[in-house]
Amino acid sequence: MTQQIHELIDKRWSPRAFSNQSIDEEKIEKLFQAASYAASCFNEQPWRFVYATKDYPERYDQLFSCLGEFNQMWVKTAPMIILTVVSKKFGRNQNPNDHARHDLGLAIGNMSLQALSMDLYMHQMAGFSTEKAREVFDIPEDFEPVTMIAVGYLGDPDQLPDSMKEMESPTRDRKNLAQLLFDGDWEKMR
Ligand SMILES: Cc1cc2nc3c(=O)[nH]c(=O)nc-3n(C[C@H](O)[C@H](O)[C@H](O)COP(=O)(O)O)c2cc1C
Repeated sequence: MTQQIHELIDKRWSPRAFSNQSIDEEKIEKLFQAASYAASCFNEQPWRFVYATKDYPERYDQLFSCLGEFNQMWVKTAPMIILTVVSKKFGRNQNPNDHARHDLGLAIGNMSLQALSMDLYMHQMAGFSTEKAREVFDIPEDFEPVTMIAVGYLGDPDQLPDSMKEMESPTRDRKNLAQLLFDGDWEKMR
């Protein structure tokens, strides 16, 4: 039996069709504030963000230019793009922070749920060039670009190419819990 989970977690999915409705500044601030409330190893808060809305076309285009070809086909409808970056070392002793990407994930989890509470949706992406991002934004060695995210309100799937239209659905394809929870047999967990 599938248990009922929190409605915001249940509601979350990653759309590709966004409406052209812009996002209020105040809501954008709430997204980043929610991210900043995440737990992190030694409270390092290693997450950093480069973002732009279409109101700032120069930066929006810079971000857009870092995306791979597939993602560029649909992200163009999104009113806001974020590049996520982590600081790789602990500020207090310059030791490597092996949990920086973990902590960024927590921050993005917070952000996704805050977004949904305001009817905004996020679509995270690995399909972008980290080298290009480094070059375009002059990112120093001790910072690492991790993902990009399209953010916006749900749009009309008919604006997507046919192949993507079929994928545009909140249906969840998930492993069942028996595959995730250890009961002595790692083979069942592959
Ligand atoms: C780190 C990460 C990278 C992803 N990269 C891409 C991507 O480059 N392009 C894309 O269309 N979707 C990408 N996705 C979206 C996933 O395919 C999607 O989250 C997954 O299929 C589960 O669907 P759901 O988010 O709708 O539940 C990525 C998601 C994550 C978390």
